[in-house]
Amino acid sequence: MGKILVTGGTGFIGSHTCVALINAGYQVVVMDNLCNSKVEAIARIEMITGKHLRFYRTDMRDKNGIRQIFEDNKIDAVIHFAGLKAVGESVEKPLEYYENNISGTLTVLEVMREFQCSILIFSSSATVYGSHNVVPYQEDMSTSATNPYGYTKVMIEQILRDVCLAQPKCSAVALRYFNPIGAHESGLLGENPNGIPNNLVPYVAQVAMGKLDCVRVFGNDYGTPDGTGVRDYIHVMDLAVGHVAALAYAVNHPGFEAINLGTGKGSSVLDVVHAYEKACGKKIPVKFVDRRAGDIATSYADVTKAKELLGWETVYDLEKMCADSWKFTLQNPNGL
Ligand code: NAD
Ligand code: UD1
Repeated sequence: MGKILVTGGTGFIGSHTCVALINAGYQVVVMDNLCNSKVEAIARIEMITGKHLRFYRTDMRDKNGIRQIFEDNKIDAVIHFAGLKAVGESVEKPLEYYENNISGTLTVLEVMREFQCSILIFSSSATVYGSHNVVPYQEDMSTSATNPYGYTKVMIEQILRDVCLAQPKCSAVALRYFNPIGAHESGLLGENPNGIPNNLVPYVAQVAMGKLDCVRVFGNDYGTPDGTGVRDYIHVMDLAVGHVAALAYAVNHPGFEAINLGTGKGSSVLDVVHAYEKACGKKIPVKFVDRRAGDIATSYADVTKAKELLGWETVYDLEKMCADSWKFTLQNPNGL
């Protein structure tokens, strides 16, 4: 086990996972079409790790392009992050989302089969728990979705289950991420969404920078301790290390597994704002507005399975997540 292909490896979670993989002694090959990331991420990963990695600007739907990567490199396993991820955009452009995320994954899987590469770690999401389950979410609960993005995750998990049944040597682990935030503690890698951010922490970061006026809190009448939405925020470097643990597990365990990656603890929107105020040393103005369509009150993980199967658990708290996000934002006011 040595060489790992990371699809979507210049993106937010992929780039941090490259650092964790290299730190764990793996060789990393990155493939990304750069539709939502910058090639500068490669230089940053190299700066942090002092190691070289090979980058291919390739679209995951380009079969010959992916074949070329497997011909050039003996790939032992794939960690598959590449995909479009904006919930609202997926409602407006379902065909683009299904085409990119599903066709792209099928193409990756076909080339893996051709080259007898049988280990895949996939970026799934807590969104597969839909709106009907009760917290804490456990992996054996039924899955569903409320938008095309969420359905791509539900469908890809099913595809992986079916592939593992048909090809008994295959291992596929779908990691169901809760809410990844934060940045590498060097401030060299982090999250920089295009335009006005949809997700809470990147939005709060821009308010702290003075680029946006105030945080609009989507609803304060939920049945939660302070009335605002509760989520399981996880430091992106904890998440990255979870992938290294999943890889070690997959090597010895053929078949399909879905595993939650979260802290097991919920924090409210106001908890996040207060932790960010502490990190940046400024007051962050908030305004209470209506609930956002499609949001649920509370989401957090049951993390028992990750502990038992992967021997993994998180180490960073919300304060550290906000401190690292703020460091990255200050050092990279215009992103990478
Ligand atoms: P990201 O947008 O930063 O990274 C995804 C990368 O995939 C980008 O660099 C993009 O350029 C690339 N990509 C997209 N389509 C491609 C294609 N056709 N060919 C090649 N590259 C392509 O997003 P992220 O936050 O790092 O998320 C990584 C994965 O984790 C995604 O699959 C996402 O759905 C999933 N996920 C993310 C979150 C989150 O909150 N960030 C939560 C749950 C699951
Ligand atoms: C969103 C996606 C989810 C995706 C996840 C990670 C939706 C409906 N869900 O989850 O599918 O897996 O991101 O990318 O988009 N909030 C505010 N003000 C803001 C932004 C957010 O109050 O400006 C609140 C939300 O109501 C929620 C919490 O902050 O309670 C977290 O929101 P967000 O960061 O967007 O993540 P999710 O909604 O959990």
